[in-house]
Order: sequence, then C-alpha cells, then structure tokens
Amino acid sequence: MQQLALRWKSLGVKVGFVPTMGYLHAGHLSLVREARQRVGKRGVVVVSIYVNPTQFAPTEDLAKYPRDLKRDLKLCRAEGADVIFTPSDVEMYPGKAAGYYSTYVVEETLGRVMEGASRPTHFRGVTTVVAKLFNIVLPDVSVFGQKDFQQAAIIQRMVADLNFPVKIVIAPTHREADGLAMSSRNKFLDAEQRSQAVILSHALQAAKAAVAKKSISAAKLKSDLQAFFTAAPLGHLDYVEFFDPKTLQPVTQVKRGAQMALAVYFGKTRLIDNAQL
Ligand code: PAF
Repeated sequence: MQQLALRWKSLGVKVGFVPTMGYLHAGHLSLVREARQRVGKRGVVVVSIYVNPTQFAPTEDLAKYPRDLKRDLKLCRAEGADVIFTPSDVEMYPGKAAGYYSTYVVEETLGRVMEGASRPTHFRGVTTVVAKLFNIVLPDVSVFGQKDFQQAAIIQRMVADLNFPVKIVIAPTHREADGLAMSSRNKFLDAEQRSQAVILSHALQAAKAAVAKKSISAAKLKSDLQAFFTAAPLGHLDYVEFFDPKTLQPVTQVKRGAQMALAVYFGKTRLIDNAQL
C-alpha cells in the first residue's frame, strides 16, 4: 500500500482517504463521496477497513464488533472507491504478539474528557492507528464523520501538532429516518432498544430548543435531560456534556452554539451522538 502511495505521490496524483472499521453504512459511503469530491476524477480514493484492536479495552466488544468484508467491498466498489486497504493485525502491529511493539501516539488534553474518561485507552489506539494509516496511505485529504466529534477534534489536533501533511475534512452525521445516528453498532439493538434509541437525537433536539432563546446552567440542563431519559427506560445514560466545540472545555452556562455530546448504553451496546446547539 505504501509503495503504491509513493508512486501516486511521484506522479502528482491526489489521494483521498476514508479510514473505517468496516461494516459500512450510508454514513461511511457519504465520507467516500466527500473524498471523491475533494480529489476529483483524476485523484484516487482509498478506504481502509481495519478493526483496530488497540482502541478497544479488554472489556469491550472487539471480538463481537460486526464484520462483513464481502458486503463492504461491494459497497465500496459501487461507491467508486479505487483501493480498499484491508490490513491484518500482523501487518499493522508486527511483533505485537511477541511483545515487540511499543510506540503509541497520545494526544494529552482533548482526549481526557467524555469518551476518553469513559474509555481511558481508546483515543491512544485511535491516534496511533490513524497516524500509522496516514504514514502508509500518504493521503492529501482524509474524511472523518462528525458523529465521532471528539475523535475528529483529536485527529485534527494530532495532525496540527505533529505536522502531518494532510487536510482533515469533517462530514455531517448521517441519520436514520427517525433521527438515530447511523452506526455499525446499531445492529446490536433489539427491536425495543432500537425504538427507544431515538432518545439520543430527541435529547439533542430538546437541548437545542431549551437554549434557543436563553442560556441555561449546564447543571440544570443535565438534570432536565436526566428526567427526559425516563422516556427510554432501557437506556442508561453514560454521560451528557456541554462544551466549547473548539477547545472541548466544558461550559458551566449553556447557550446557542455550545456543543452537546452524550453516550447511552442499551444493554451492552454503547451509542454516542452530538450536535451544536
Ligand atoms: O471511527 C472509526 O471507525 C475508527 O475510530 C477509525 C478512525 C477508523 C480508527 O480505527
């Protein structure tokens, strides 16, 4: 893959890159379209499909993470991706099983809160694998989804801090008809959980309405939203936070333009969503 990328570079071919963990849905495919738009017909679009073990804690769903490579390849081809890069664990982390892998990329500020607080080793795995993928694919532009807002902010920070020569594009969240953000993990929801999972996007709408005309203290809005969650008794709120979209610093007073993010468990399935209010 890296040799191919070096050849593209020498020929002046622009490379658009969409890193994924597979089990693709319409949201991923919109990222592939965005990458194509950015590099044009003469550029190449690379999609990576790799379920990265280092971003899963031992207690998390790595083994259960949904996979369907045959279907993913078909979807990528139909969407016009040029290269689908599907490395193995041994290719991505040579020597790891034998204890010879010891280099990680760690962003030290933005990753401490929200997802980072709930999943302490998660972002270290994400930044490490994305840095490795950037070094292999050598993209000019790489597209990430806004659904993983904190991940996108951390990747942007990593790229700026470590001088990666790549432009990061953040594309809007794709939603089901009822508002549920598309996610590969939605497949784990049973019918009742699926119908209650719409509470995440309803909570975002409720918060948006609440701050449309006046600001509210974050503590009051959190407690109002906790009450709101009684409408979805199968959901267990992991966190809801209000913060500055640039710095990710929590705000004590929530007004229009603040960012809200939340994570909710339905059984063992953890869903996240976010929006600018
Ligand atoms: O968002 C994801 O699917 C993953 O975190 C990513 C960026 C592909 C890294 O494994």
